[in-house]
Amino acid sequence: MKEMEKESFKEISEARTQEELERIRLKYLGRKGIITENLSQISELPLEERKLQGKKINDIKQHIAEEIEKRKSDLKEKSISGTSESKIDITLPGKPFEIGKIHPLMQLMNEVKDIFLGLGFTIATGPDMESDYYNFTALNIPKDHPSRDIQDTFYIKPKEQNAKSESYSTVTKQGEKEIVLRTHTSPVQIHIMEKNKPPIRIIAPGRVYRHEAVDASHSYIFHQIEGLAVDEDITFADLKAVLDSFIKKMFGSNVLSRFRPSYFPFTEPSAEVDMQCLICKGTGCSVCKQTGWVELLGCGMVNPKVFEFVNYDSNKYTGYAFGMGIERIAMLKYGINDMRLFYENDLDFLKQF
Ligand code: DAH
Repeated sequence: MKEMEKESFKEISEARTQEELERIRLKYLGRKGIITENLSQISELPLEERKLQGKKINDIKQHIAEEIEKRKSDLKEKSISGTSESKIDITLPGKPFEIGKIHPLMQLMNEVKDIFLGLGFTIATGPDMESDYYNFTALNIPKDHPSRDIQDTFYIKPKEQNAKSESYSTVTKQGEKEIVLRTHTSPVQIHIMEKNKPPIRIIAPGRVYRHEAVDASHSYIFHQIEGLAVDEDITFADLKAVLDSFIKKMFGSNVLSRFRPSYFPFTEPSAEVDMQCLICKGTGCSVCKQTGWVELLGCGMVNPKVFEFVNYDSNKYTGYAFGMGIERIAMLKYGINDMRLFYENDLDFLKQF
């Protein structure tokens, strides 16, 4: 009997479902079970002996029944909370997983785009690789202009030259055939004017490249947004109104800006726009070199010589153009003093935007 009891306990503890447990119960305690059979077998024994054995069997019956009940409630609990080794509390909040964000430069780019879309501009794009013609010549940048210098421009060998000789000089001998990584977004102006007749009102965001050492305010790849409007009777006053509106939307309506005469080959007259230094509020600091003003962008009225390259009648049409660096605007807006922070993928920096 003791053996049988031991065996039943083992089976109960190993039962993994309520069904298995029920089978065990029937095996031992059922009407045709082992215990009932044992009880019927003792009926032939003498009275005293029968009483003794009967009690023993009934005790075992009791123990088995208790053991089954215990296991039953154990299994019930486990089926809710998993196995005892790995309890899962389904009421705990899940682990949050991090989703990516738009890079601060692209966020700012989108903001600039939105402002100009609101002013009636549409978005245009151009290739990152340009011929010398689009990047320089058609923008009235003369052959001897310093920005053509090998130090500022990444030259790419034209395909035919590539195959011929490795010693091919990157300094132009082939003239217009030369391919460069665009040094500014201004060549998009030419592409747009070649393919469309006025009125034109576009902005062209994109990457630009310069042969430049990296430091706190320089990079060999950066971003610009170009603007171009051409129509009859466009004046410098239109340019001022559009840029003034942009600056107020981007930096706040109290920010002062000023137009300062400047020079660009593709605009005449040309200007640079300065804005009041946001860091010292115009009183003078190291960022604005004690002047109270910081340079924001270049602009001007489209040079009639540029119109000649795209066969626009400069007696009929006038236009304005502007170009600005996105990194520069981001640095001014967020008070960032090192451009490299935008490119280093430091999550602690990026998460702030
Ligand atoms: N392309 C000039 C640069 O990269 C910026 C610029 C100045 C663009 C004047 C313009 C402009 O369209 O009118 O420095």
